[in-house]
Amino acid sequence: MVRGRRSGLPICVAIHSTVLGPAAGGCRIAHYADPGAAVADALRLSEAMTGKNALAGLEHGGAKAVVALPTAARPAGAERTALLHDLGDAIESLGGRYIAGPDVGSSPADMSVIGGRTRHVCCRPVEDGGSGDSSLHTARGTLAALGAVAEEAFGSPRFAGRTFGVIGLGAVGGHVARLLHRAGARLVVTDVDPGRRGLAEELGAAWVEPDDALAMEVDVLVPAALGGLLTARTVPRLRCAAVAGPANNQLDEPDTARLLAARGILWAPDVVVSAGGVIHATGIELRRESEERLTARIEDIAATLHRIFHLARTRGTTPAAAAGHLVGELVRRGPSTPHTMTQEG
Ligand SMILES: NC(=O)c1ccc[n+]([C@@H]2O[C@H](COP(=O)([O-])OP(=O)(O)OC[C@H]3O[C@@H](n4cnc5c(N)ncnc54)[C@H](O)[C@@H]3O)[C@@H](O)[C@H]2O)c1
Repeated sequence: MVRGRRSGLPICVAIHSTVLGPAAGGCRIAHYADPGAAVADALRLSEAMTGKNALAGLEHGGAKAVVALPTAARPAGAERTALLHDLGDAIESLGGRYIAGPDVGSSPADMSVIGGRTRHVCCRPVEDGGSGDSSLHTARGTLAALGAVAEEAFGSPRFAGRTFGVIGLGAVGGHVARLLHRAGARLVVTDVDPGRRGLAEELGAAWVEPDDALAMEVDVLVPAALGGLLTARTVPRLRCAAVAGPANNQLDEPDTARLLAARGILWAPDVVVSAGGVIHATGIELRRESEERLTARIEDIAATLHRIFHLARTRGTTPAAAAGHLVGELVRRGPSTPHTMTQEG
């Protein structure tokens, strides 16, 4: 934890694990009541990144950077540059053990500014030599995941004739809805932004109001907006066979996975479903992998989910617990090839 010499803001970098390789994870720039809350968030989120990267088959550990803003106001202009340069210095001081990317409150353009102080940064815009917007790749990974979910829940990975309820038609959700439509799925969609109705009409999707979203009668509910929507209060309202989407941190707490299982609702862990973006960005920028190789890796999300569902079935546990077990195994086994600590790899 350091205080930025330009911005005066507290910056916390939590490196949870480097067993599988340099730790990768986003930079969260958000308001926290006190620096202690920011540290707690960084620790929790960095652990989740270890799981996400391991389950995505990436030779990266997990980490997260958090900049604690004193108010909800987002720094802009010179103030923002100062904060991003402080963040870049903090990242550089870790000598490549941590590779930063965008997260809540930070953008690919911010990564370019951070890149002025350190080369251990990923997901810059294409014009700055980065891999650009990751949302399409996150959506492609989500489609692979939905195929595995459909197979597990209905015995066939086919989308035609099935109904998917997409909550949030933003960058990722919009792509997911388009890809599902193209694959012959029926769609029910919602967004708090009524401006997204145009996309719904274009895709022939039924529109529901956001307040009614959780109770949509669909085969699979696809959360693609904010996290924390699955709680002890909302799970009883669900009218779907499965929940699988790219939104991060869908469960308000780990035990909610058991409530879903008790209702016979299949839940695909979001850390697995949403990994397409990080697979693609790190593949292009850190491993120089081909698009063919990356497509195979993204499609592998389906195989990982099949493994998790199988483990959950045979152990009589939830997919969330099975995913946790698998992460433990992957980290214990260690990297399959020796890794280097530099981005040139
Ligand atoms: N962008 C990526 O590559 C990526 C990668 C991994 C995970 N994710 C996760 O996927 C989710 C979506 O990310 P995004 O990049 O598409 O964000 P986005 O901001 O582009 O889209 C979110 C959409 O959800 C809508 N929304 C917000 N609250 C809502 C609500 N209560 N009900 C219905 N709609 C609501 C917003 O209006 C917006 O259209 C987030 O949870 C994000 O953390 C994104």
